[in-house]
Amino acid sequence: MRRFLDLEDLDDQRLERVLDRARDLRLHPVGQGLAGRTVGLLFLNPSVRTLASMQAAVTQQGGQVFVITPGAGSWVMETRDGAVMDGPAAEHVREAIPVLAEYADLLAVRCFARGEDLAEDLADDLIRKMADLCPKPFINLESASAHPCQALGDWRTLEDLEVPRNGRLVLSWAWHPKPLPYAVPASTLRMAARRGMEVTVLHPPGYELPPSVMEEARALAARSGGTVRETVDRREAMEGAHVLYGKSWAAPSCYGDPEADQRMRAPLRQEWCIRESWFANSRPEARFLHCLPVRRNVKVADEVLDGPRSAVVHQAGNRLHAQKALLLEMLGGCR
Ligand code: CP
Repeated sequence: MRRFLDLEDLDDQRLERVLDRARDLRLHPVGQGLAGRTVGLLFLNPSVRTLASMQAAVTQQGGQVFVITPGAGSWVMETRDGAVMDGPAAEHVREAIPVLAEYADLLAVRCFARGEDLAEDLADDLIRKMADLCPKPFINLESASAHPCQALGDWRTLEDLEVPRNGRLVLSWAWHPKPLPYAVPASTLRMAARRGMEVTVLHPPGYELPPSVMEEARALAARSGGTVRETVDRREAMEGAHVLYGKSWAAPSCYGDPEADQRMRAPLRQEWCIRESWFANSRPEARFLHCLPVRRNVKVADEVLDGPRSAVVHQAGNRLHAQKALLLEMLGGCR
């Protein structure tokens, strides 16, 4: 397996194998499955969890890792085709990716949405171009519209929490001061739909997910026996929910115009901070998930993050186990 750009790059058999291995790696984290292997990490955008968990995953399995963070000790990098590079960028990914691949057995890259053109970001072409430039195995560490490592860890988390595969998951918009990209909500939706869950996307009017994102999820749900629907009614959404997954995203109608989005979201601040009262008609044991980082008492109240429903730390922990299992799958860790 040479590319992990989206969860769909793992067929059902591989996915189950990686999930099972991730469970086992939680109990037995250290090994030599990556001995003699070098993994290169290129972060064009900031990170805590993805950066630290990838480094820990490689080193705990006996491998070596290098990290390149353009603009912070490395050359600023250009990603646009045909760019006239007379600005801050001194290096283009067209050279950087194949050069870094000379030094590594696998490259993993984070490159967020530009946030200017909705169609361009939804097409997720940039991460595909980077993968095409890489002659070695390649992992997407979050692109314009996919965060598959997050989705893999989240699936493992749902298994650990014994959430039924056909259980109810609510993916809810939450208030954030800035319009955020669709990578996490789109990947969460696809993951839950593929898992066979009853998924409800809850959002204020105007903050629906783009139609193509919903259509992809509905197609996955049709294959798995799940369902995907959306509503602006919180009580209806939360009825009998096993899981509330909080996230914020941009309004499609304002994409590329952050000031317009900020005007639209300004009145939603109080009502769309996730609080314990949101769970009034969920299952009593319903859990709360969030990919992190999270703005406390803006997006999610302390009472939820510090309460017994929250599984966000366990969820972040599974990034390590899931990515380690993925690396072993891609680099032949069974040697
Ligand atoms: N959830 C996640 O990807 O976290 P980071 O942005 O800190 O890597």
